[in-house]
Amino acid sequence: MLKDCIRSNLRRLLTKEKSMVLERRIPFLEESFEGIEELGIYLHIPFCEQICPYCPYNKEIYHSDLAERYTKAVKREINFYSDLVGNKPVTSLYIGGGTPTTMLYNGLEEILTHVFKSFNMQCDIHMESHPNHLSSDNLNTIISMGINHLSTGVEALQDRHLKFLKRPYTVEGVKALVERAVSKDFKCVNADFIFALPKQTCSEVEQAGHALVEMGVDQVAAYPLFIFPYTRMGEMASNNNYRISSLLKRRKMLGILERIFYEAGFRRTSVWAFTRPGVPKYCSVTVPLYIGLGASGGSYLKDVFYLNTFHVAEYNNALEEGRMPIALSLDLTENMQMASWLYWRIYETRFRKEDFKKRFGKDFNRIYGRLVKLLSFLGFLKDDEDQIVLSDKGAYWLHVLEDLFSLDYVSKLWDNSKQDPWPTEVAL
Ligand SMILES: C[S@@+](CC[C@H](N)C(=O)[O-])C[C@H]1O[C@@H](n2cnc3c(N)ncnc32)[C@H](O)[C@@H]1O
Ligand code: SF4
Repeated sequence: MLKDCIRSNLRRLLTKEKSMVLERRIPFLEESFEGIEELGIYLHIPFCEQICPYCPYNKEIYHSDLAERYTKAVKREINFYSDLVGNKPVTSLYIGGGTPTTMLYNGLEEILTHVFKSFNMQCDIHMESHPNHLSSDNLNTIISMGINHLSTGVEALQDRHLKFLKRPYTVEGVKALVERAVSKDFKCVNADFIFALPKQTCSEVEQAGHALVEMGVDQVAAYPLFIFPYTRMGEMASNNNYRISSLLKRRKMLGILERIFYEAGFRRTSVWAFTRPGVPKYCSVTVPLYIGLGASGGSYLKDVFYLNTFHVAEYNNALEEGRMPIALSLDLTENMQMASWLYWRIYETRFRKEDFKKRFGKDFNRIYGRLVKLLSFLGFLKDDEDQIVLSDKGAYWLHVLEDLFSLDYVSKLWDNSKQDPWPTEVAL
């Protein structure tokens, strides 16, 4: 109740909107692409070999025939976009999931070839992977496809926590797999790590932090365990009444990780990520505007946000019948665009005020000067005249805000979209 009240007041303050409702509608895309100078592409691979109980992402069990249909459907979706995007440079390509490496020998290369044939690609390729897929042969195949930034879900470095998360490997096994990836010629190898697990101690987090540094990864993305109500873990948590760890425990554990990574020379590159010096950060969205391909792919084009259907079979059907697979759209007012721009730039820990002016044609200080003054007074940000930099304290409070806003939005939107392939509307 209190959470809802804070949420709606904050939303009103930042976006001036009473509510946000995504509707079943295909936006008029020609207009949205006009005036965009560069964009990113997100490609969703919605398959996994097994489903982890905590995972909120859109995925289902991999079957080769489904992946073959999916490959054809994604290529059709690319064809829809190729004229709209034209010659605009694509400056970021991220392949996420699910587990993209399930399609390593069944469609991924075909899709990538089609992407490069259809768009003006001017970027590196970032991809997620499952640790159990990191054999030497697979890593060589990944590199041969031009994928030069790799992420993998290590998740925990104590066997009892791996067991709790139902991850199909041991600590010893996953260390060897990640070290093998590190020894290959990637620009950046990122390891995902989940902390604040039930009954996890601070010394276990400390031990895992040191182990991640010793494994030689270039970046660690460390998230506290979020419990999404619609996951198996969400159900278990409500049945057994077990609670998500307190904000205080999360703060303490994040502090331990910050100390270890800073001592090892890493820098903070997003609220959750720490990167070695001189390494380009591994990141899902490196440009503010992007199109999302695949089932559940989300697109953000200046004045509109829209989301594809989550159902793989419905996604395939739509494209086989010559229809766009877009399920829900939200028109974005200028206030919404500015608030979301600010949120994501702060999330990346730093931005230049001049970039705001470039995007919105408005003076940053005139729009957000008072808010920034307050946040820097509270020690959340540093206002360096030209640049805004998030502090560690600010990163933690952004996490609290994320807990309040985006996780709730994501839960509502994803839960509805999973239950109904074509929802009439979803109110956030
Ligand atoms: C798509 S998965 C990673 C790739 C691959 N499928 C795997 O499992 O190794 C993305 C990452 O999100 C994080 N994640 C998933 N569910 C989470 C949750 N409930 N709380 C915190 N982090 C979560 C995990 O660290 C996971 O590695
Ligand atoms: S964590 Fe990775 S492997 Fe597990 S269900 Fe989610 S996407 Fe699939």
